[in-house]
Amino acid sequence: MSTDFLPINGTDHIEMYVGNAKQASLFYQHCFGFECIAYAGPETGLRDRASYVLKQNKIRLVLTSPLRSDSPISQHIQKHGDGVKVLALWVDDAAKSFRETTLRRAEEAARPQRLKDEHGEVVVASIKTYGETIHTFVERKNYRGPFLPGYRAITNSVKPTPIGLQYVDHCVGNVELGRMNHWVEFYEKVMGFSLLVTFDDNDISTEYSALMSKVVSNGNGYIKFPINEPAEGKKKSQIDEYLEFYNGPGVQHIAIATDDIIHTVGELRQRGVEFLYVPEIYYEDILDRVGHINEDLKELKRLNILIDRDEEGYLLQIFTKPVQDRPTLFFEIIERNGAKSFGKGNFKALFEAIEREQELRGNL
Ligand code: FE2
Repeated sequence: MSTDFLPINGTDHIEMYVGNAKQASLFYQHCFGFECIAYAGPETGLRDRASYVLKQNKIRLVLTSPLRSDSPISQHIQKHGDGVKVLALWVDDAAKSFRETTLRRAEEAARPQRLKDEHGEVVVASIKTYGETIHTFVERKNYRGPFLPGYRAITNSVKPTPIGLQYVDHCVGNVELGRMNHWVEFYEKVMGFSLLVTFDDNDISTEYSALMSKVVSNGNGYIKFPINEPAEGKKKSQIDEYLEFYNGPGVQHIAIATDDIIHTVGELRQRGVEFLYVPEIYYEDILDRVGHINEDLKELKRLNILIDRDEEGYLLQIFTKPVQDRPTLFFEIIERNGAKSFGKGNFKALFEAIEREQELRGNL
């Protein structure tokens, strides 16, 4: 077997550009149970932006807002609304990761940079992916600070109770019609990923909208990126709606793994997070389809959690409504019990739920 030219230890962090990071950080703390652990802004010497770093188990979310209207961050928000700018990958050698990928024709976004402070040093480098999204390679083996040099640790007087979110399971990108294969090839050729699974419109078309999807994964399987493109349907695809409101390709959803989805989703609901609704009929013959599960079906039904099974086990999943007013980014909460797939058996019920929301927005 050939050696992996781009070994990745996992997701380092996800950075979102948002209109008001101070307020958004409270949303993710109070509703999602993240702890705000670090901050960078004017008080730490940054002149043009403020960033809040939120952590829960292995997940780091960074929320960044511009302070000036002529900043590229402002332009990003003007165009896309709140959304994911950086899918950062944790590597042992950021300069080598940059070299190997740009050698294979990745477009550079930022050349390798060594950042230092009293906690040590970090090397970062970035390449472009779909839309205006970038991948930043983060090498932090010589660093012991709270996040990155330039950030200072903060301790909150209010500590939100964590809700069991563990790690980033996968991050999904939406791209334009006809561009899915281009980006799959990018991940294969430029980043050394392999194609894990393909869903065509027979798998996932509903009465109105349809989409195609291919999932790519890195060598150790820690990084999984499904890529969606719209397919021909009777009316406007959910991917078309995203592309219209995000003004181009971008991250559609972030799936976060939990060990106890009943607890996690119960907490999220109690704290005001809204989820897509799947009608009760979904649960009527569900056990005939998925077989035995350890959880109480009544509880799953009460929380509207979906169930699917593959050859290796089963999974439980649920999808939030978009987390901003534009119908763009949303979250998935997933608990895997052996299953390594993505809930194909739920696509129909799920997409019908999305279409009901699209219809309410007048976008179907
Ligand atoms: Fe997903």
